[in-house]
Amino acid sequence: MKPEWKEWAQEAKAEFPKANSALLPLLHRIQRAEGWLAPETLSDVAELLNLPVQYVESVASFYSLYFKQPVGKKVVHVCVGLSCMLAGSDELMHRLEEKLGVSQGQTTPDGAYTLLEAECLAACDLAPVAQVNLRYKGPVPPEKADELLKEEVSS
Ligand code: FES
Repeated sequence: MKPEWKEWAQEAKAEFPKANSALLPLLHRIQRAEGWLAPETLSDVAELLNLPVQYVESVASFYSLYFKQPVGKKVVHVCVGLSCMLAGSDELMHRLEEKLGVSQGQTTPDGAYTLLEAECLAACDLAPVAQVNLRYKGPVPPEKADELLKEEVSS
């Protein structure tokens, strides 16, 4: 357990006195620092908040934006909802897979990119929609796959 996590847990509990309410911001803060949530991290968080580890694991699993395995420096989500699918998101995903040499759900060997599917990102008017480190990009037609990968974004 990193020493600062205790302080972060105290701050989360001060803001959200119920432990299960403090859980989400604490997980978020730790993921921002560590890049992902390892199984040992979830155990540590359970201990810090005095919650059952199974509960912490179930919450971390429910939300797809909590990463349970290491991700790349740039996390690229491609929306596969109906509007985006009709606008070509499957071809966009295919081109990204070709350019990166990985399938959706995987990280490039150099750790630069993780490519993930997303359900409707609630920006259907921009279809096909992608996100790079949670920043919305759209419309991103398949021929703009290169531009999408070159986006400069903070992590
Ligand atoms: S279907 Fe892609 S944003 Fe709604």
